[in-house]
Amino acid sequence: MEILTLILKIAAVVGLFTLLFLPLAKVTAWDDDSWYVRYTVSAVATTAWLGLLIFFPGAIITCAVVWAILLLCSLRVPALRNLLPFWRWLLALRHRIKGDSPEFIVERVLGLRPIEDAPTDFKGVRDYLAAYRSYDDSGEALLEFSCGISGVTDDFVEKKAKDGLGAMGAETYKIEHLSPGHWLLHFYKTEPKNPLDDPIELTASDLADWDGKYVTYGLTEAGEPARLSYAQTSGIVVGGVPGAGKSAGATLLTLPLLASPKASVAIFDGKGGMDWAWAEKAASLYNNDCDLDLPTATEQLENLAQRCVEDLKSHPWSDADPDFWHSGASALHPFHLVVIDECQTVFDITGRSKEDKALVERCKRAVATIVRKGRSAGWCVMLLTQKPTADSIPTNIRDNCVVRFALRVTTREAAEAVLGSIPEGDPKPTEIPAPRRGGAVVQGEDGHTQSVRFAYLPVTEAAKALESSTLETVVAGLEE
Ligand SMILES: Nc1ncnc2c1ncn2[C@@H]1O[C@H](COP(=O)(O)OP(=O)(O)O)[C@@H](O)[C@H]1O
Ligand SMILES: [Mg+2]
Repeated sequence: MEILTLILKIAAVVGLFTLLFLPLAKVTAWDDDSWYVRYTVSAVATTAWLGLLIFFPGAIITCAVVWAILLLCSLRVPALRNLLPFWRWLLALRHRIKGDSPEFIVERVLGLRPIEDAPTDFKGVRDYLAAYRSYDDSGEALLEFSCGISGVTDDFVEKKAKDGLGAMGAETYKIEHLSPGHWLLHFYKTEPKNPLDDPIELTASDLADWDGKYVTYGLTEAGEPARLSYAQTSGIVVGGVPGAGKSAGATLLTLPLLASPKASVAIFDGKGGMDWAWAEKAASLYNNDCDLDLPTATEQLENLAQRCVEDLKSHPWSDADPDFWHSGASALHPFHLVVIDECQTVFDITGRSKEDKALVERCKRAVATIVRKGRSAGWCVMLLTQKPTADSIPTNIRDNCVVRFALRVTTREAAEAVLGSIPEGDPKPTEIPAPRRGGAVVQGEDGHTQSVRFAYLPVTEAAKALESSTLETVVAGLEE
């Protein structure tokens, strides 16, 4: 009988020791070593005290006196608290029981600050603010964190968030820098789906009339409408590998203009196929034979350049105001857009005869004229090419094109040929996944790039939209 009681008592002591470590199971891997040592000392002390009381219950008074003395002494030597029963266990429990308190995440999981310990540099003061929202159905957890301590920098937070991925049970994270010393950390259980990975399908009826300035052509990564303003824009470059979605993207950029009486669109299709056949009837000029008949294309381009220069000189939209965009596009004085798809066919001299080289020179000069002078005259050139190098787009022309779309490209050279140098950390057109057709990187006025995706409107739909708009224009004309 005696033996049985003894065994039970020993079991109780061992069991207690084990239990003390249980709430640790989840987090010890991320605790700093000294904290772990202190916790172990506390657990051993707790077990010893309890063991003593189990075997000698009469010692309770003596124990209580010793504890009181330890507590008093710990005011001077804080480490002595670790010898009190349950002390550290209770301290830790506060944070561990509710594993998703902001303090728990910040201090234990991310190790952003040492634990609540007086012996640390921070003297137990929490001079940070944190708010935490645990994983919701979308598999995203949010930690908002602000801290003015000098060592807590962007890099530091970045590193800690990365180190804490395992502890957070997250696959990936994203950090938003809200203001100096203030961050919003996103943790995702699984890699979040990029909203641009789903095609954005449109039908003819989704399209709004052109307002004389903007076209909405797709979505940004934030899920907002991606828009292009033609106002004060005289050059647009669109580059990307064959099949990236350049011509399809240009459908969205041009259809509203083709359907509007406020714009006049000339189309040169260097590929010579049927890509732009849908727009033939609505275009003011349509040429899909540039490659074979360079003299005609040259003449047409020079003609357009000539008209642009005349508009600039005589500004027919106003006697007094030389800037087209001040009064804006109207049916009487439409905005002029010249689209040249696969523009290398009129610019590249590789393998050309001497006569053709002279024609190419004239084409370049005509286009350069529109790009350089067209802005205040309401003229603009849109150049599309699968080969965005200096051979395909003369640099003096490209440099004057302020709006640039880089669809998927495979080399850094090609990316820079379209966009120029890209700031570190910004989206790059080489990173656009191949299946994301119509995915593009655009450069904003601040020099930073942004990921977008063109919506997709099949050419049959585009043709339908033009037919109904032509009909509407005719009806409107009859009613006037
Ligand atoms: N934004 C888009 N969304 C979905 N599919 C697209 C998109 N743009 C293009 N595609 C698909 O890719 C094909 C090739 O596009 P296209 O514009 O002809 O390429 P490029 O002119 O760059 O050679 C299209 O026929 C279409 O099937
Ligand atoms: Mg094309």
